[in-house]
Amino acid sequence: MSWLSQPKIYDHQIHESGIASDEALAMILDRYPAELLDINAYSYDSEGQVSLATGERGRADGATLLEAIKGGRVWVNLRDAHEAYPELWAHIQPKFDEIAADLGVKPIKVTGQLIMSSPQTKVPYHFDAAGVVLFHFRGVKKLWVYPTDEAHQPQESVEKVIMRVQAEELPYRMAFDDDAQVVELQPGQALTWPLYAPHRVENQGVFNVSLSLDFQTWETRLMRGAHYANGVLRRYGLKPAAMEQTPVMARAALWAASLAMKKANLAPNLIKDYERSFELSAQAKKKAA
Ligand SMILES: [Fe+2]
Repeated sequence: MSWLSQPKIYDHQIHESGIASDEALAMILDRYPAELLDINAYSYDSEGQVSLATGERGRADGATLLEAIKGGRVWVNLRDAHEAYPELWAHIQPKFDEIAADLGVKPIKVTGQLIMSSPQTKVPYHFDAAGVVLFHFRGVKKLWVYPTDEAHQPQESVEKVIMRVQAEELPYRMAFDDDAQVVELQPGQALTWPLYAPHRVENQGVFNVSLSLDFQTWETRLMRGAHYANGVLRRYGLKPAAMEQTPVMARAALWAASLAMKKANLAPNLIKDYERSFELSAQAKKKAA
């Protein structure tokens, strides 16, 4: 199997089902399990460096929450949509099956997050340790997709993100943008990109709704485990080989080692829940006042 070397766009009609209408979104926000709903707010300095705050919905109902997203600067993530929102997933799964067949991948685990985001929202430079298909339903967003080389994505940072001793963000410099491929994503399009490719997103001044589908294959699972094991070994003073020069059997051995390392708790997860530092309904109230 060969992964893409370039971002690739597919067409879909899922947004035409009404699944991302205001009524449908308010309904799903009302009924979504609170423990699966994240509210994030990023702020940026003039160098493009990011800080993150997370919030709670308070007692806001779905319609109020939706208005707060439309008028705010937040990013609301409805996790595990593949289980918690079956009406949406009934549209996503058959389309994803087509895309997976086209990509020549055999997913062993698929998860989805429904994302509603404010008109000015930006998602900082990061990578996902899985394959991703981003189904876009409403609004317009611009994505920058960067090369996966050491300059844009140091292997040591990848290991730290996978070991969860560093938040998802990678070191970013604005000059990287010269090396990026830029895609403006419209409703009815779905985008995928090379495995692990760093990317960042900017909404184009309008409220956005997308479904981010993550998938693991045996290849992605071995790679993730190998990065984890390499990260632990690096802590003990060893210098792991570059991942692209690590053959699949060696990756498999590292993956197996990573399972034992996790059992031995050699890299405790330091990214516990971020402090819930603001309440969205309180912001909405302030705005309305
Ligand atoms: Fe991402």
